[in-house]
Amino acid sequence: MSEKSPSKKKLGFVGVVKRLVPIVVRATPVFFISFSVLAILHGVSWGFETMMQQRFFDAATVFAQGESTIRSVLVALAFLGGANILCQVLNGVVNFVPEVLGQKVIGRLSKGIHEKMARLDPKCFEDTDVLDDINKALQGQNNALWFVFMLCAIFTFYVPYFIFMGWYLFTLKPILVISIVIIFIPAFLTQIVRTKVFAKLEDKSAPKRREFDYYESCIVSREYFKETRLLGGYKYFKKLYLDTLDTLQKLKFQATLKTNLLELLMSFLTVLGFSTIFLMLFDAVMKGEITVGAFAAVTNSIGLLYSIMEEVVCRHAGQMAQSMGSITNYLNFLDLEERQGKVQEVPQLGDVVLEGVSFKYPGSEKYAVKDVSFTLKHGETLAIVGENGSGKSTLIRLLTGIYLPDEGRVTIGGVDTRDLPLDALYRNTSAVFQKYQRYLMTFEDNITISDAKKTFDDLALDDACRKAGVDSNGRSFPEGYKTMLSREFDGVDLSGGQWQRVAIARGFFRDHQLIILDEPTAAIDPYEETRVYNRFAEISKDKTAVIVTHRLGSVKLADRIVVLKDGKVVQVGTHDELIARSGEYHRLYKSQEKWYVEDAEKKKMTEELADSFNLQPSFA
Ligand SMILES: Nc1ncnc2c1ncn2[C@@H]1O[C@H](COP(=O)(O)OP(=O)(O)O)[C@@H](O)[C@H]1O
Ligand SMILES: [Mg+2]
Repeated sequence: MSEKSPSKKKLGFVGVVKRLVPIVVRATPVFFISFSVLAILHGVSWGFETMMQQRFFDAATVFAQGESTIRSVLVALAFLGGANILCQVLNGVVNFVPEVLGQKVIGRLSKGIHEKMARLDPKCFEDTDVLDDINKALQGQNNALWFVFMLCAIFTFYVPYFIFMGWYLFTLKPILVISIVIIFIPAFLTQIVRTKVFAKLEDKSAPKRREFDYYESCIVSREYFKETRLLGGYKYFKKLYLDTLDTLQKLKFQATLKTNLLELLMSFLTVLGFSTIFLMLFDAVMKGEITVGAFAAVTNSIGLLYSIMEEVVCRHAGQMAQSMGSITNYLNFLDLEERQGKVQEVPQLGDVVLEGVSFKYPGSEKYAVKDVSFTLKHGETLAIVGENGSGKSTLIRLLTGIYLPDEGRVTIGGVDTRDLPLDALYRNTSAVFQKYQRYLMTFEDNITISDAKKTFDDLALDDACRKAGVDSNGRSFPEGYKTMLSREFDGVDLSGGQWQRVAIARGFFRDHQLIILDEPTAAIDPYEETRVYNRFAEISKDKTAVIVTHRLGSVKLADRIVVLKDGKVVQVGTHDELIARSGEYHRLYKSQEKWYVEDAEKKKMTEELADSFNLQPSFA
């Protein structure tokens, strides 16, 4: 992944068209072919109607001069009526098709975005530039469909219609064709300026929009709600929210004002061109160069031609220009670098070997992990300890291959993580992270989502729950595994400690060779964490397991302990070895000892109290 995000790449109009059209057309080819055919017929029918108008007016003129019978007028009228009905029918059908099939194309495009996100290098998600790109891409996707649809309409409907009218005017009086150009140029120039202004606007607004969305969620979403109300953060976020809204609106206002003023100026020129055509036509009739029927048909249809031009150039092309910015972002998102491995399968998990591994987060100067070397042996239980911010979680992401090291290398079962595709990396690994998710789904789904393809029965669920210490028969789950775990969907809510055990059960449910607990125990006290980790070490006897914590009392059972400080490994050994030496482990252990004494006492007191009331103690 290069440091610079490719989002800064600018595609011109042609560039966008070349990339976008195949993507959208491939999503539903039938839609585009049928739409194009209908649109061509529609354009031709309009030209045909104009010709029929001329024929009718001419017939009427000749009849008025007493040189023909009423029959020829009626025949001409019948043709005109037929042409008109044809136009109406095709118009209806052409408008109907995109409404019906548009949603389908959007669905297919979304799938593309979702699949792309799954293939992205996970490190991308640490980069705020890339997060902006994703936000912009989602916006661009909806515009993309509409853009291609308009483009299709322009080439299959508007352009054939203009060409036809151009040819028709040319046959009447060649100079008339120039007037079409006079109408066209000012509006065209306006759109070029518009494209630039709105592309710039999109770039400037995306980071602001992200801020705006975040502040809004701080105000309204349930997880923030209690805290922001209670601690008075509500007013603070509301102010930030309104300030960003203000900035966004100002940006939009400036851009719109600029383009609208220009548009106004240019429309004067257009009116001028429009008037020229009438004068020329009038002159031609007076000189007898064209028939009265042609004059009537052209003046009648030139109004239509003008309003269509205005529709295409000012409204459609204008919107297309506006959406160019977000569509470019969509295309650039599709170009983001992916993690592609050469090797398809991790052979067997084997040892994980880190050799001189260093890593920096995108946009950060400081190494989060620096020059780390050690081997995670197959089947061992390894603990990674260190103070907050010492690099434990980063090291986990490196040794599982989620992140690739900037320097050094990580091999899993002898294969460099650089050569492994993401799905192969995840295949044998399970993990529970500090920031685990609370899915608003059933208890069962919350557990089984970690291995969606696995077939399972209640025994498998029981097993995962037992390992994680979840009391699946308890009062918290009135409908057993089918209990809905969310108030939003008429279910129950769990306490922080219960959610956390459910998250651990999810980790156990997934078939794995390697399992990692990265401080999912933050919500519980040190004593309880020790119990969870000890049980975990017991259960993981035949599997490779890594436990991560900043609380040293919890890791005595680990086969080996790696001590991190400022991103570097400062000690490796068993608890007994490390405690016997003076060093970081010893220092940290001494400073934390009181937690265990205090917590053990607290627990004992609670248990005694609970005993006397015959209650179950809960430390969750
Ligand atoms: N997304 C990120 N972007 C920039 N720096 C980060 C990011 N995540 C973590 N860091 C930094 O990397 C260092 C190690 O973090 P981390 O691995 O989370 O530590 P630990 O898990 O031991 O608490 C810290 O200095 C932290 O500030
Ligand atoms: Mg961490």
